[in-house]
Order: sequence, then structure tokens, then C-alpha cells
Amino acid sequence: MYLGLDLGTSGVKALLIDAGQTVVGSGHASLDVSRPHPGWSEQDPADWLRACEEAIAALRAAYPQQLSAVKGIGLSGHMHGATLLDAADQVLRPCILWNDTRSHAEAAALDANPRFRALTGNIVFPGFTAPKLAWVKNNEPAIFAKVAKVLLPKDFLRLWLSGEHISEMSDSAGTSWLDVGERRWSAELLAATSLDERQMPSLVEGTQKAGALRAELASKWGLQAGIPIAGGAGDNAASACGMGTVGAGQAFVSLGTSGVLFAANASYLPNPASAVHTFCHALPDTWHQMGVILSATDSLNWLSEITGKGAGELTAELGGTLKAPSGVSFLPYLSGERTPYNDSAVRGAFSGLAHESSRAVLTQAVLEGVAFAFRDSLEALAKAGTTLTRVTAIGGGSRSRYWLKAIATALGLPVDIPADGDFGAAFGAARLGLIAATGADPLSICTAPTTDATIEPDAALGGAYADAYHRYRALYPAIKSVTA
Ligand code: XUL
Repeated sequence: MYLGLDLGTSGVKALLIDAGQTVVGSGHASLDVSRPHPGWSEQDPADWLRACEEAIAALRAAYPQQLSAVKGIGLSGHMHGATLLDAADQVLRPCILWNDTRSHAEAAALDANPRFRALTGNIVFPGFTAPKLAWVKNNEPAIFAKVAKVLLPKDFLRLWLSGEHISEMSDSAGTSWLDVGERRWSAELLAATSLDERQMPSLVEGTQKAGALRAELASKWGLQAGIPIAGGAGDNAASACGMGTVGAGQAFVSLGTSGVLFAANASYLPNPASAVHTFCHALPDTWHQMGVILSATDSLNWLSEITGKGAGELTAELGGTLKAPSGVSFLPYLSGERTPYNDSAVRGAFSGLAHESSRAVLTQAVLEGVAFAFRDSLEALAKAGTTLTRVTAIGGGSRSRYWLKAIATALGLPVDIPADGDFGAAFGAARLGLIAATGADPLSICTAPTTDATIEPDAALGGAYADAYHRYRALYPAIKSVTA
């Protein structure tokens, strides 16, 4: 048995697979995000540990025997978060998350130093880790002075599980401190934010062993002490391991809190000007590119909250047949946008509202707006040299067939739906746990699931979607010009 632990923005998932990679079961516990000021997004790392305990307890209650047979653990987590620890490994402040944009001025200042794009292959986005440390230095100097270690969220889980400060390449590539082509910390970039390598965890590949389970937790959970913990991966690379998106030409579209259009690459292909992210993959000697939308299912959840209707109820109101765009457009920039604009100040908008704009029309516009944001990412990937011919859909939002049809039509690409099963980040993390524990060949483990169905673009609506995408594109500069 192998255990995958995924620290997601909205909850922790603990997933158990057997040696043949069949999912045995999973446990889940929810997490909240705190937004104390506009643009801020934080979580208390203590809540991650509580959620992890809860998820494992749920798994243990249902599968005690199987859990006790675990031979390897893999970790995955939301990326870019700054978890700041003092010399005694005590947490200094709430973790500043991936969708927090408070450090936009610091990010722009670092990005103006050409060495950042040259060495990391990426724009310094406000959501990345380095500008957050620059913000802490400017605004909370007493805390900055005490920072002995900066850990990414899943690596804080590792510290708790194993007592070790270790990270791996895929997540570290999103800090703005990693030399992404060379797969090592850059002393030069760390120095540019008044830090040095001693404040960073050591680095392994995602498939390598990175710590072992502490005896105390092992006995509490009925596991063997010393079980190896794999390096693991940031949540997107972990999902890619789960989906078998590891070879050039393979791609997925992820409809989670954030939206991601992810393509695997055989080599390092940076193109920061396109606002595409170029990161190390979790497998040695592989990289990936992705376009990132900050609010994907988050946009639908926002509509759900203000209408008092569940997200599933909202999408059910649209029925099963794709409709032509109504003339109401939605920009999903609830916390700004990464690809293609790198704009943390812009905010979302509805346009074209009329008396007849019902709740269903607004839902339709939200789903289309996110689909068009994926189209923007597809164009950005093309500028970065990657042309996709089909994509596989994953993430909670992919339960809506309507949304997948809208995405297929907006992208002009077939969207594959994997056969029933759980191929997300927790599954990918469990696979990495298996590889680290057994030394298995990563490519023989990280295979793709069979395709259950393929959603083709709706040819009859292609023209109407192209017109609506055109209106969507024209809205950004207009909204931008009236953004406070
Ligand atoms: C990727 C990103 C998000 C988070 C949240 O760059 O910020 O996808 O990893 O899951």
C-alpha cells in the first residue's frame, strides 16, 4: 500500500493505493482561506496539520488493515505559499498563499531585475514566494529578521511528518529562487531578496526519498515507523503524474480552485514574455509549461455563494445542451490574473446585463468566461512553442459536462474524460511514494488512465463562441482602464 497526501487550498485528501495502483479509498478534511484584507489570502499551517490528522483518521476508520500496510508516502500541495519558520521551527505568521496578490509592487521590482527571468524562466508573479518575502521584509521586518527557514506548504507537512527540511524541484520552481534549467537554488536570486541557501530546504527530485515517517506519528496512525516519504510535487505536477502527463505533447486542463492548462515538455522551454509558467516536472530531467487562471471553480463558487445555490444546482439549470453565448460576458479576474496578463490589480466583471439576464444566464457567462481564460492560456502556450492537439480534463469542475463542452468549443480541441476514478494530485503523490519506496521506473508507473468519453468542440456554435471570445478579449483593456 502507498499513501498520497494532497494539501489542497480547500482541503486535505489522503488517498491509499495498492501495489498495482488500484485506489483502495480516501479520507478528506476541509480547509478555509482567510482573506483579512482585499487581495490577501492566508492559511494557518496548524490547520493543515489538523486537516491531515482528520483525513488520515477518516482513512484509518474505513481501512485500518490496508493503512497499516503502507510502505511509502508521497506529498503534494498548493504551490508558492510562504511558510516562515524561526530557528526552532515555529511558524512565524500565517502562510501567504498562491492567490495572494499583496506583494505586487515587490514582484514588479524583482521582475525588473532581468536575472530573475533569465534564471527562473518565469515572470516574478506576485503569487510566487520570493516577492512575498520581500513584502514581509518591507512590512513586517521583525518577522523577517527571525526567518530561519522558508518552506512550501507540502514541505511543512513533511517537516511535521519526518522532522526534515526538504523540498523537490517542481514546487521549488515556483519560488523565483530556483535556477529552473539547472535544478538548483540560485544564490544570486536568494541574495536579491536578502536570503541565503541556509534558509532554504535541501532539494531532491520528486521521485526520490525525502525523509521518513517519525515514530510518534507512525504509532498514532498504526503505521510502521521509518516509512520513506517521496519528494512529491507541487499540486499541478502531482496531478500530471496521476494523469500520466509526463511526455511531450501530453496535456491536461484542470478545473480546480485555480484553472491550469498544463503541458509536459522533454526539455526546458522558458518563454516568460507569454506569461506561461515553465517549471521542473516531478520526474528527473523533465519540465512542463502551464497557463494559470487564478479563479476557475472559485468563480462558480463565488456565484454560488451570492445566489445561495450550490455550484451543482447552478450548472444543472443550464441543461445538457451547449447554448450560444447570450451576450453577457464574464471576466473571471476575482483576484487578478496570471496568464496572459500578469495583472494583480484588475478585477472581474459582468458585461451586457439586461432585464432578461437570469441566474442561468449569469452561470452560463461564468462557465464561458473561464473557458475563454483557458483559450487565452492555449494562445500563450502556442507563443511559448507548444501546440496542443487534445487535452484531458481533471478537477472538481470537470464534473459539469456543460463546462467541458464550453471548454472544448472555446479551445477548438477535443477534451478527453478519463474513465471513472481518482487521478488527481493525491493519486499522483501516492505514485511518487510508490516510486521512491520501490525504485520502480517512473515512466512505467505514471501512465495515463483510459479515456471514458471525448467531448468534441460544438462545430455549430464555433462561430458564436469565436465572436464571444472576441468580445471577451476586448473587455480586458476596457475594464483595466477603469480599474481603481
Ligand atoms: C500554480 C498555482 C496554483 C496552485 C493552487 O502556479 O498557483 O495552481 O498550485 O493549487
